[in-house]
Amino acid sequence: MTGAFPVCTHDHIAIPAYDPTMKSVSGRKTLPTIPAENATTISNLLAAFEGESNANAKYIAFAVKADADGWHGAASLFRAAAQAEQIHAANHARVIRQLGGEASCEIEPVDVKTTLENLKTALAGEQFEIDSMYPDFIKEANEHENTAAIRTFRWAMEAEKTHARLYTQAIALVEAGKEDAWVGTPSDFYVCAACGYTSESPEEHERCPVCNLSWDKFEVFR
Ligand SMILES: [Fe+2]
Ligand SMILES: [Fe+2]
Repeated sequence: MTGAFPVCTHDHIAIPAYDPTMKSVSGRKTLPTIPAENATTISNLLAAFEGESNANAKYIAFAVKADADGWHGAASLFRAAAQAEQIHAANHARVIRQLGGEASCEIEPVDVKTTLENLKTALAGEQFEIDSMYPDFIKEANEHENTAAIRTFRWAMEAEKTHARLYTQAIALVEAGKEDAWVGTPSDFYVCAACGYTSESPEEHERCPVCNLSWDKFEVFR
């Protein structure tokens, strides 16, 4: 994995909890130099940055546990998804800085359970981001025509759909005890270096279907 990742290297700030009912910028804590019209978008970017950073930490821990449980393919998937979440966090951080904010967050301790439970936890997190968090954030960014924020949210949301698909498969196979399927064997996963789109196929498309990056620039994780 690459090393340059802007998570929690300096003074932590409190990230306001994501509030799906929140519609206006009033009452929102903002940095003094940030234009008011960017305040909610930055707050949302920070919430997404925190979510992606914590998902990265979670999946790295879940990969270690999956290897220990003998579900080596699930471990491979966790490692690939962890890289994708790191890409999302870095993309969000770039936009936060462009808008005058600072990307920083708290990393929560990871609650590691059985691999089956960890897969279900991972799927629930992806599903929340796909169904609720990113659609709300995209809607808000659209209202302010903030194209950089729209793009980083959309790229992350589309990549999370690939994770949800693969976690769903993995859950079914682990539940059925299919140790001879891909979940039981170290398996290659291909991760778009720009948007985190994740695939089990070495040549699914010529270009990333989400961000158009050439498929030969995908990174392989096992
Ligand atoms: Fe994900
Ligand atoms: Fe991509």
